[in-house]
Parts: sequence; structure tokens; C-alpha cells
Amino acid sequence: MAPAIDPRTGGRGTKVAIIGAGAVGSAVTYASMIQGVARHYAMFDINESRVKAEALDIAQGSQFAPVSTVEGSSDIAVIKDSDVVVITAGAKQKPGQSRLELAGATIDIMKSIVPKAVEQAPDAIYLMVANPVDVVTYAGWKLSGLSDGRFFGSGTVLDSSRLRYLIALACGVAPQNVHAYIAGEHGDSEIPLWSSAMVGAVPLLQWGQTVDGKLLDDGVREAIHHDVVRSAYNIIEGKGVTNYAIGISVASILGSIVRDEHRVLPVSSYLEDWLGISDVCMSVPSIVGRAGVGPRLVPVVTPREYDGLRRSADSIRDVARQFGF
Ligand code: LAC
Repeated sequence: MAPAIDPRTGGRGTKVAIIGAGAVGSAVTYASMIQGVARHYAMFDINESRVKAEALDIAQGSQFAPVSTVEGSSDIAVIKDSDVVVITAGAKQKPGQSRLELAGATIDIMKSIVPKAVEQAPDAIYLMVANPVDVVTYAGWKLSGLSDGRFFGSGTVLDSSRLRYLIALACGVAPQNVHAYIAGEHGDSEIPLWSSAMVGAVPLLQWGQTVDGKLLDDGVREAIHHDVVRSAYNIIEGKGVTNYAIGISVASILGSIVRDEHRVLPVSSYLEDWLGISDVCMSVPSIVGRAGVGPRLVPVVTPREYDGLRRSADSIRDVARQFGF
């Protein structure tokens, strides 16, 4: 009988690499395994004992999920020939600290890791998760030398999930029936696109009462926007990190890549000329498939939404410029 093929080296299934085995990288791997995203997961971290422990802890549950293998190593060669590389390694947001304040430390990490990763996996799609994700996606993309479609960030996919969750609670419907996007920075300047939001077949702006009898008006929408922006701060205050929702958000983006699903996701990518906004990485609804990020859609936005998006782009671009990008 021919020897079985080791999926870690000779397999033909999809291989996803996760750089960074901290709370976020481990959550990404765990959520992806449960959702059956890939056949093999290769975790890399400079902390050898941590990365091996995280990989083993996830792998030992694999009997209860779609078949996959998981390995961890502090040798970057572990990611060799990956189909997708997820980069979560970056500075950690401290209580009260904004994501933009992490830019210098995380960009320094990218200067070291991105060239080595591209050397090991030159044909991969790169998905940046480390914060501040918009600035770091732009810097990482420039450092990679890859086409802009193949290097993008998780952006406001998580923020849009938070928005949909809160709208669903207010309206008494399933989150799956809320179609709403946060665009711009994954951070304090992000903008909810209220004017294009839908709850089932009803435009959100025409929704009547919330489940507790209040009119879903500007005040309720402002409160929801505030709660979305403050979510990470509040969770970090309580448990030191956020990891579960970002983990499953990234697993969802990975699914759209590896299964070529063409989902419309608000990922952070290079905008050449999006309604006159250019030379910045930020989130707008985009089509995501096996080749990475494709068309960036242009929803109808109100003048107020557009002004907010321009300001968001300016704040991202200003920070990138401070660090030479
Ligand atoms: C958050 C992190 C991923 O928003 O920035 O939870």
C-alpha cells in the first residue's frame, strides 16, 4: 500500500498560516478549525512553548470538527507554501489606549515578519489582523511587494458584526437578517452606513419601534454607534483582550477566500479612488474570494456619512505617514 501523505508537508488540502499565537491568533485558528476552513493550520510565534501549546490544545479537539491538522513552531518555515497567511502578531491594546497608538510598535514587527513570510509563502493571500489594522495593512502591503488585492486587513468586519448584533437586539430580529456596514477605520473614527442598512426587507431608517417600545430614531442610532466604538475598550477593561468575536470574524473572511464565496465584506484594502478617497487602506464593502479582495463597492452614502469617511481616511493616512508609509 502506498504510504499516506503527511498533510503538513505533502498534502493537497488548503493550508492556512497564522502568525502570532496570542489570544487572537489562537482564537482565529480555533474558530477556523471548528468551521472547517482549512485542511492544515500552521501557527507561528517567536514564543516556542506558547505556540506549540496553543497548537496542541486546538489539535486535540480536532475529532469533533471537520478533519484538519494543526502544528505550531517558532521557525517561520512552518508556514511554507501556505495558501493564506493571517497576521495577528502586534502590540496589544492596553485599557484606555486607542488602536492608532499601537502603530509604531506593530509596524516594527511587520518590518521584520512580512518579508520573511512572503519568502516562505510567495503565492499566499495575506490577511492582516494586527492593530491599528488599517495603518498596518497599508504598511504591510507596501513591505510585501504584492498586488493590493492579495494583501488586505480584517477591517470593520468585526465592527459591522457588532453593529448588526445591536440592531438585531433593538429590532427583535436575528442578526442574520440585518444588513448593515461600518466603514472607514477599524477604530474611533469608524462610520455606520445607516442610510443603506436594512432589517429584513425594511430600510432601517423606516423601522418603527424597538423591542422596548422606543422609536428607533437618531438617538437610538447614536447610542448603538457609541456602543460599537466602545466595545473593544469595554471588553479590554474587563478581560484584558478581545479575541472570540475577532476570531470568528477572521474565520468568516477566510471562508470567503478559501471557498471562493465572493461575500461582500467591509475588509480594509488599498483605495486608489473610492469616491475621491485615495492612497489609504480602510474598510468599504468589498467582494472577497480566492484571489483576495476584488471590487470595492460604492454604496449610496449621505453627505454626513461621506464627510465622516473622508475624516476617517485622513486620520489613518496621517498616522501611516508619521511612520514613513
Ligand atoms: C477589537 C480588536 C480586534 O475591535 O481591535 O476587538
